[in-house]
Amino acid sequence: MNIILMGLPGAGKGTQASEIIKKYPIPHISTGDMFRKAIKEETELGKEAKSYIDRGELVPDEVTVGIVKDRISEDDAKKGFLLDGFPRTIEQAEALSKILKELDRELDAVINIKVQEEELMNRLTGRRICEICGETYHLVFNPPKVEGICDNDGGKLYQREDDNPETVANRLEVNIKQTKPILDFYKEQNLVKDIDGSKDINEVTEDVISILEELK
Ligand code: AP5
Ligand code: MG
Repeated sequence: MNIILMGLPGAGKGTQASEIIKKYPIPHISTGDMFRKAIKEETELGKEAKSYIDRGELVPDEVTVGIVKDRISEDDAKKGFLLDGFPRTIEQAEALSKILKELDRELDAVINIKVQEEELMNRLTGRRICEICGETYHLVFNPPKVEGICDNDGGKLYQREDDNPETVANRLEVNIKQTKPILDFYKEQNLVKDIDGSKDINEVTEDVISILEELK
């Protein structure tokens, strides 16, 4: 299964991806996670990406396309992949088509998680993440059992640096502008499956899984 998860910042891409990969043995490929790992490890890629991410801007296409091409070509992605946060520009979408053609692969679906813009600011500013396993929580919508501590492994929860209100506002503006042309591009190929992402996390997961089951 070759799947793209689309949705504005805070729509629930990462939350749903972590559920999907429990059921389907395909790698979750999040460009945002890859950049954050590179920033933490202070690699060249990390140094380049940091200035963009801190401002809520997009990392340049040539950088982003390169890391996705390498990742999709790895062995574990031969059986399929779940892309999260890529493509985010029409140029990235076109580059992905070219990459998949070279690999003789095709997309199966573009799952578009739709949530009203007003809701996204709350979701992002209240998000907390485990420093050990990366599990995502929300102060109100999905709180851990013990405040500030991960249910899975007792890790401390932290807030992403780009989840402050100013950066979130810019991320939303940047992404809203880019989304429509990408959706149009995939609608023409009949790949888009819209999901109501405003429901409870578990209900959204059920809806996503029922779409994936139809693809099998
Ligand atoms: P990235 O990490 O991809 O961030 P994003 O797109 O802004 O998306 P988020 O990860 O913030 O949201 P999400 O949809 O995963 O939501 P989540 O499940 O966590 O990218 C970060 C940056 O990297 C970009 O700004 C850019 O600079 C750069 N970048 C990345 N990819 C790039 C690319 N392709 N090109 C160029 N630059 C790129 O959920 C959010 C919160 O809501 C959580 O607290 C969660 O618990 C809660 N929640 C989730 N679902 C629900 C629900 N149904 N009900 C209530 N609460 C919910
Ligand atoms: Mg995410």
